[in-house]
Amino acid sequence: MMRLTHLSSYRLIATRALLPLIVSLVVFGTTAAIGVIPGAPEAGKIIFEERCASCHGPKGLGDGPRAPFLSPQPASLITAGISVKSDKELLNVISNGKPRTAMPAWKDLLTEQQQWDVLAYIRKLIRFYPKPLTPGPPNGSNKRSHPH
Ligand code: HEC
Repeated sequence: MMRLTHLSSYRLIATRALLPLIVSLVVFGTTAAIGVIPGAPEAGKIIFEERCASCHGPKGLGDGPRAPFLSPQPASLITAGISVKSDKELLNVISNGKPRTAMPAWKDLLTEQQQWDVLAYIRKLIRFYPKPLTPGPPNGSNKRSHPH
């Protein structure tokens, strides 16, 4: 009897001591999960199609339906020039917009996570775009139409 009581009170103390640890693990774990931002391209795709494709085009080529009416027109997002830019540089443009262009600031409309998601999607467009990013040699494709 003595022993049992002793054990159960020990267990109670142990639980009490562990509780803050468990709580903090859950809280920090969740914070970390939100804090580990690098984006989800699947979520980014939806954001891109909804918010960006009207200017930048569905594949990021800068050929969205609003593009012809803008000056300067949105450039292709899948060029080598964009791919070498850091996440920080591109997120800065996405967040704050680009001065003297139609590029809007998204910081009040998209969460930080959503901005990372859309960036991850842009990165994916760059990587998987099937055509070469540089044009082929001139006249290369015309040769066959002039047989000699
Ligand atoms: C109203 C038209 C418009 C919309 C909508 C728009 N953009 Fe832009 N964006 C532009 C223009 C214009 C530029 C400046 C020219 C350029 O650099 O392409 C630009 C530039 C950029 C650049 C910078 C390219 C560089 O050279 O650094 C990024 C990145 C970008 N946009 C991403 C986005 C994302 C992501 C969205 C959606 C959340 C979006 N844009 C929505 C018009 C738009």
